[in-house]
Amino acid sequence: MTVLIDPFDRAIRYLRVSVTDRCDFRCVYCMSENMTFLPKKELLTLEELDRLCSNFIRLGVEKLRITGGEPLVRRDIMTFFRAMSRHLDSGALKELTVTTNGSQLEKFATDLYAAGVRRINVSLDTLDEAKFAQITRWGRLPQVLRGIDAAQAAGLRVKINAVALKGFNEDELFTLTDWCAERDMDLTFIEVMPMGDLGNEDRLDQYWSLKDLRARLAERHDLTDLAERSGGPARYVRVNDTGAKIGFITPLSHNFCESCNRVRVTCTGEIYTCLGQEGHSDLRGPLRATAEDALLEAAIRAAIGLKPKGHDFDYSRQTVDGQISRHMSHTGG
Ligand code: GTP
Ligand code: 5AD
Ligand code: SF4
Repeated sequence: MTVLIDPFDRAIRYLRVSVTDRCDFRCVYCMSENMTFLPKKELLTLEELDRLCSNFIRLGVEKLRITGGEPLVRRDIMTFFRAMSRHLDSGALKELTVTTNGSQLEKFATDLYAAGVRRINVSLDTLDEAKFAQITRWGRLPQVLRGIDAAQAAGLRVKINAVALKGFNEDELFTLTDWCAERDMDLTFIEVMPMGDLGNEDRLDQYWSLKDLRARLAERHDLTDLAERSGGPARYVRVNDTGAKIGFITPLSHNFCESCNRVRVTCTGEIYTCLGQEGHSDLRGPLRATAEDALLEAAIRAAIGLKPKGHDFDYSRQTVDGQISRHMSHTGG
């Protein structure tokens, strides 16, 4: 069995599966306020998602991250998590995890742990209730905070993902880092990417380089670069006085595509081999054409054979280059 290798000799070990395009929030950098969602019949069933993921795992994928939209709003999603835990039991899968907005964690944290999930990423850009309502449009902070409490109580390790936004959460740098350190949570900052219908939003105005963020952090704390990785694009530092770990995801200020190990599948079975490119292929057709997996495997290999070198996001010329028209929620980031 040969594992999945792309044209640039990168082994694909990480699959991100978006199980729904829906979300109970409307974060401004991710969705427009009036989104049209897919009719249910377009979606892969939980059984089809199972077959798809199981094939990727057979082909060498060791890390499976469930995303959305908001993955935990998909009906009966715990059945799918429980089904995937058999691959943890067999040892084929090293990590089953989820990226969530936290709104449903109060309900599902215990079930996630029982299904073998040990670590989750929760998106949270601000600890200010009014700002939270503003950036997520529909979200409410206390619900998310209760979700995070429930996750930690259930034994899940929590990593907070914060999109770094100039003029929005710049003033919360130390509030966020101190809060995460006190609660023993890792924290990753993400540079804002030009995705979706930007309308009258200006990504250049929102962009806060993590080079700058890191320099500000270093004014107050002694930082040590860490070699350890969590399997995604983040590069980490240790904050020596608090012991906390802080990650940086820098698609703009420092390109990390050369070590890309991942592909994405959407809830309708499209495979996107790069977050920052439009190219994608269909896996739903081959999945539904026959119960034999040979056709699906061939389609997966063909798609990975087209994986591009990397994204073209670039703000350095004081313009937004490499913009992608689909919303982040389409592929789950
Ligand atoms: P860990 O397992 O904790 O390393 O998580 P992760 O970074 O792999 O997953 P997460 O869902 O937390 O990803 C955070 C964000 O990083 C995503 O939503 C994207 O915004 C960004 N990101 C992840 N992978 C890529 C990538 O391949 N390219 C780009 N440009 N951004 C990415
Ligand atoms: N740029 C960077 N990160 C984004 N996310 C959503 N939209 C963007 C964007 N335009 C992040 C969310 C969440 C993850 C799924 O993707 O904050 O952490
Ligand atoms: Fe929903 Fe996450 Fe997109 Fe916010 S970033 S709208 S929580 S999918």
